[in-house]
Amino acid sequence: MNALIYERVHENLKRLKLTTIDEYLDNYLEIAANEERSTLEVLDYLLEQEVKSKEDHAREFRMRLAGFPMEKRLEDFDMSFQPSLAPAVIRDLASLRFIHHAENVVFLGPPGVGKTHLALALGHEAVKQGFRVQYANASKLIERLMKANRENKLDERIKALTKFHLLIIDEMGYLPFNSEGAHCFFQLISRRYEKSSTIFTSNKSYGEWGEIFGDHIIAAAVLDRILHHCTTLNIKGDSYRLKERRRQGIIPHG
Ligand SMILES: Nc1ncnc2c1ncn2[C@@H]1O[C@H](COP(=O)(O)OP(=O)(O)OP(=O)(O)O)[C@@H](O)[C@H]1O
Ligand SMILES: [Mg+2]
Repeated sequence: MNALIYERVHENLKRLKLTTIDEYLDNYLEIAANEERSTLEVLDYLLEQEVKSKEDHAREFRMRLAGFPMEKRLEDFDMSFQPSLAPAVIRDLASLRFIHHAENVVFLGPPGVGKTHLALALGHEAVKQGFRVQYANASKLIERLMKANRENKLDERIKALTKFHLLIIDEMGYLPFNSEGAHCFFQLISRRYEKSSTIFTSNKSYGEWGEIFGDHIIAAAVLDRILHHCTTLNIKGDSYRLKERRRQGIIPHG
């Protein structure tokens, strides 16, 4: 092979950031020559490797960006432990149709029934399918929004959050919001309304959301927007944490 051409090919691959092809080229050209593969086959193989590697990197980046506190998967969720959950509904959510339609999902229920597990598992699936996802604990999110509000950056902060196809807001209701927090939250929900999806988890029923916001009018306005296109899953089961402690003999069987 002409050394000049060889150098130029590698140089251009680097310039175009086709790093996987750059890395595979020499080896694969040798294999291709031995096995008499056509030019088209060579091109096809190398391009496939490059695309796969770029997609893998992008997925890893989105996974880190999502800020999941831990990795949870749908296949690890024992449906038989929560008979109040219809498998068909979970299957439908797993198809991520709700994200394509900018719909919301709300998991309600007492502690330990799997609300966060399911929210994170759907988030994981969404990242795998190419969506931009962000996880946030409700109290921490409100704190960040209030800080931005005081720095006159609420709009900017909310705009940054609208870039995510899916926002997961975990633990709505464990800590109530003050009126500034409720105001910021309303702004966020209004901006995402009918544009992108949000998953909420809460230990409080909708009737009790007024207490979270400390203001029934704001709570009603927020709920009106969330529930317009929404799947609510009311998990009425036992705590899985308790089951595990029972199994380990820490709590006697009741
Ligand atoms: N049906 C299930 N199958 C397998 N693991 C489960 C199931 N339900 C819950 N878990 C596990 O039990 C633990 C508690 O579940 P999770 O954190 O989702 O509860 P939660 O409903 O969010 O509770 P809280 O309101 O206290 O935040 C997690 O480790 C979760 O993975
Ligand atoms: Mg939880």
